[in-house]
Amino acid sequence: MLVLGVESSCDETGVALYDSAYGLLAHALYSQIAMHNAYGGVVPELASRDHIRRVLPLTRQVLAESGRTLADIDGIAYTQGPGLAGALLVGAGMARALAFALNIPAVGVHHLEGHMLSPLISDTPPEFPFVALLVSGGHTQLMRVSGVGRYTLLGETLDDAAGEAFDKTAQLLGLGYPGGPALSALAATGDAQRFSLPRPMLNSGDFDFSFSGLKTAVLTLVRKVGLGEAADIAAAFQRAAVEVLVSKSLAACAHSGATRLVVAGGVGANAHLRERLTRDAAARGISVFYPRLEFCTDNGAMIAYAGAQRLVSQQNSPPAQADLTFAVK
Ligand code: KG4
Ligand code: ZN
Repeated sequence: MLVLGVESSCDETGVALYDSAYGLLAHALYSQIAMHNAYGGVVPELASRDHIRRVLPLTRQVLAESGRTLADIDGIAYTQGPGLAGALLVGAGMARALAFALNIPAVGVHHLEGHMLSPLISDTPPEFPFVALLVSGGHTQLMRVSGVGRYTLLGETLDDAAGEAFDKTAQLLGLGYPGGPALSALAATGDAQRFSLPRPMLNSGDFDFSFSGLKTAVLTLVRKVGLGEAADIAAAFQRAAVEVLVSKSLAACAHSGATRLVVAGGVGANAHLRERLTRDAAARGISVFYPRLEFCTDNGAMIAYAGAQRLVSQQNSPPAQADLTFAVK
């Protein structure tokens, strides 16, 4: 089954073609980061208008690269939400209209389900069950995953998402948007031991997170020592945030009896997180799986993949018996 995937929830237009028998055939991405950079964050109206400009050229590109035509497509998956309403409408409108014209099914995919399944787009995907750490700009969740569509929420952030904390802290340190990669690069040049920052909810005994206090602690520190120390502050922040993410993820694995941990979402690209997680997990006999770096942040491949899983599964079992709803908010 050949599935076209369309992602347009925020500031990246992603289109991909996934074949359930042959894997990922092609994917293309246009990032609006440069356009929004001047405003210090995503401007929703500009994002929607740019998705309109990009989505069809990107679709033609993946078709040309894979040597397929519209007539070869068996289904279309698009990001249903969460995301910016206008931006989502572009992808949903294009996908549904095209599916209607081609008389093939269109399936809406939960953006987080796309992220969570992205490490499975691999020649050596993790087997089910596993624990998934979802760390994006909008969400931070720990999930037990027993199969496609079989997800149990173990814990989530009570306030800011991990990526949001990176972005807001980067803003406090005078770095650009998006802040995560910039903060991570600056942190690599700093001394993480110099300043001590809180590890919120580290010992809360559950799998929930809180990052807003950490951000406030950075603000207090910046006011006290000034931006001349930005590299050391960035390193201290990154270390504190990563320590909480690693500790809770490994605790969730222990709680679930899982020996596999999957990390997905933009913060999953963070080198310090990858290094600490891989090291500490190995010491506990846990294997960690990451998406390809380009699939950590938003992309069409993860939507095409998740949509293909759903469409294949609907083909194999009557929809009434298949509960494939992504059951988290
Ligand atoms: O998954 P994603 O592309 O979009 C959402 O669905 O939110 O995640 C974007 C988030 C941003 O907050 C960005 O700052 C963060 O991922 N991010 C990083 C890194 N690369 C992206 N955070 C820390 N370190 C990175 N290397
Ligand atoms: Zn995302």
